[in-house]
Amino acid sequence: MKNPAKANQYRTETICVQTGTRKDTTFNAVAVPIYATSTFAFESPGKNKGFDYSRTANPTRSALEECLAALEGGAGASATATGMAAETTVMALFPAGSHIIAGRDIYGGTYRLFASVLSNRGLTFSFVDMSDPRTVQQAIRPNTRAIWIETPSNPLLGLVDIAAICDIARKHGQLTIVDNTFLSPIFQKPLSLGADFVVHSTTKYLNGHSDMVGGAVISRTPQHATAVAALVNALGTCSSPFDSWLVLRGIRTLPVRMVAHERNARALAEFLAGHKLVEHVYYPGLRAHPQHRLARKQMLGFGGMLSFDIRGGKPAAFRFIQALEIFAFAESLGGVESLVEHPDTMSHASMTKPARRSAGITGSNIRVSTGIESADDLVADVAQALRAVASSKRRKR
Ligand SMILES: Cc1ncc(COP(=O)(O)O)c(C=O)c1O
Repeated sequence: MKNPAKANQYRTETICVQTGTRKDTTFNAVAVPIYATSTFAFESPGKNKGFDYSRTANPTRSALEECLAALEGGAGASATATGMAAETTVMALFPAGSHIIAGRDIYGGTYRLFASVLSNRGLTFSFVDMSDPRTVQQAIRPNTRAIWIETPSNPLLGLVDIAAICDIARKHGQLTIVDNTFLSPIFQKPLSLGADFVVHSTTKYLNGHSDMVGGAVISRTPQHATAVAALVNALGTCSSPFDSWLVLRGIRTLPVRMVAHERNARALAEFLAGHKLVEHVYYPGLRAHPQHRLARKQMLGFGGMLSFDIRGGKPAAFRFIQALEIFAFAESLGGVESLVEHPDTMSHASMTKPARRSAGITGSNIRVSTGIESADDLVADVAQALRAVASSKRRKR
C-alpha cells in the first residue's frame, strides 16, 4: 500500500496483505526488511531518519504496528515481546490504589499477573462472572479504573457482551481492555464495540505458525497510543525486529487461516456434541451454547478454539490425549497445527484450585486448538482416541 493513511478505506483482507509493506526505498523490497540493529546513526545533532534506538522504535516493528492498528481500527499499536508483556505494559497505566474488574474464567497467566504480581504492587482486583453485565456493574467501586474483558474466555469459551460492558465503563469513567487473542481481528473488532484498548498474544493466531512469542496493545485514541508506546520504551517490553517480522508475515494469511480454523472447530464441536463419552462441549458456534445469540451479534466468526468435558474425569482426559495421533499435546493455540491441552494441569495451573473450580475448570476439561489440517482427518483422530478411552474403560470393568 503506497499510502498507509488510506488503510481504513480498505477491507480487512486487504489490510492484512497491504499494510506495513513497501518500506524499503533503497531496493524497493516488497516485504519489509528485518532491521537487525540496536541503534541508528544521527546525520547531525538532532537529525536522524525517525529512529534512534530500537527499544524506542524500530522500522520492522513499526511496520507491524501500522498493520495491527489498521486491523483493529485503532489510532496506534505497540508490539511487545509476549502477550504477557502487552498486559504488563497496559496495566502500568493504572496508578497504585486502582481497582480493576476482570472475569473469573480468564487465561491463567493473566490471572497470575493480576492476583500474584500486581496485587502486591498497589492494585486490587475483583474476579467476577462477566456473563451478566449486572454483576460487573455491582462490582464497581469508587476507585475502579478499568474493566478487563476476555472474550471468548480461556478455556471455557464463555462470552462477555463487549458493548454492554463498555457502556457501563464509559458511564463510570473507566477504561476497558479486551483480550482479543482467541478470535483475532478477523472475527472480532472490540474497538468498534466501544473498547479503549485491545491486547493480543500475537504468539497465537496473528503469527499463526507457532514459531515465536509476541504481543500487542492497540489503542483507540492517539493519546493512549502515545502513553502505551512511552511505557513500552520505559519498561523495555518491546518486540524484537525478527519476531515483529514473523508476526507481520503471519498476518498476510490470517483471513484464510481463520476460515480454515473455524471450519475444523465447527466439525469437531458437532462431532463431540453427539458423542456419548462427552459430557459438555464449549463452542460458541453451537446453537446449544448459552450465549450463541451474543456470539452472532458481536463476533464475525466463531473461531478455532473449543473445549469439552470428557466423562471419566482426569484419567479419561489423559487417556484421550495420549491416544491422539495428529494433535500435539501442547500449550498455546492459534497455530496451523492442531493442539490439545489439559487446562487444569497446564494452561490454568497458575490459578489456585478454588479459582479454577469457581471458574468451572475441572480435570475433565480438554482444550482444543484446531489447526488448518483436513477436518475429516481431525474428526477421525478424535473418534479413534475416544474409542481408546471407551475400550480402556471396558477393560477396567
Ligand atoms: C487469551 C490469552 N491472553 C494472553 C496470553 C499470554 O500470551 P503470551 O503467552 O504470548 O505471553 C495467552 C497465552 O496463552 C492467552 O491465551
